[in-house]
Amino acid sequence: MAQNSVIVYYSWVGNTETAAKEIQSLTGFDIQKIEEKKARKFGTMMSAAMGAVFGFKSGIKPMDFTLNGYDNVFLGVQVWAGKTTPAVNSYLAKASFKDKKVWMFITMADDKTPQKFIDTITAKIEKKGGKVMDAMAVTTKWDPKENVVVSADDLKSAVKNWIENIKI
Ligand SMILES: Cc1cc2nc3c(=O)[nH]c(=O)nc-3n(C[C@H](O)[C@H](O)[C@H](O)COP(=O)(O)O)c2cc1C
Repeated sequence: MAQNSVIVYYSWVGNTETAAKEIQSLTGFDIQKIEEKKARKFGTMMSAAMGAVFGFKSGIKPMDFTLNGYDNVFLGVQVWAGKTTPAVNSYLAKASFKDKKVWMFITMADDKTPQKFIDTITAKIEKKGGKVMDAMAVTTKWDPKENVVVSADDLKSAVKNWIENIKI
């Protein structure tokens, strides 16, 4: 299972990265990070939120958009103003999801399943020939004035429970 699965994630503050690394330590999957060309400065919440609200795409660094050799993509994303982030919007536009099974993990401040958010990403992936198999969301702390990154211990049990119940 490890050879044909990859974790792909974006993370500004570090929460989604914590979840991604937890999945990697449980599975040994390859891991790829979506990175913006222009580093986002901490404290620029307004422009970050606006970018998400308007569905903007930001410039992202070159990476493996073909996903060749992988059948399963574990996609790590986060909610900004109820929407996907500009970096994730770019990735969704560039990546080839044809015949890929996609397992989505989401970090967010809210504790309710973000169904509309999941449906929007699912539609984009399915339009490109991928299939979203499952989505799970974990609640993180969020304080716009501080970079509070959730600890791996806080995410461990939710991530482990999700991964152990996945049937690839
Ligand atoms: C600009 C911005 C907007 C956010 N909007 C929401 C939101 O609408 N709903 C929510 O549940 N969390 C919201 N959050 C919290 C993030 O989803 C949460 O902190 C997430 O774990 C961040 O992921 P990261 O640490 O990988 O960057 C927002 C965070 C930022 C920075």
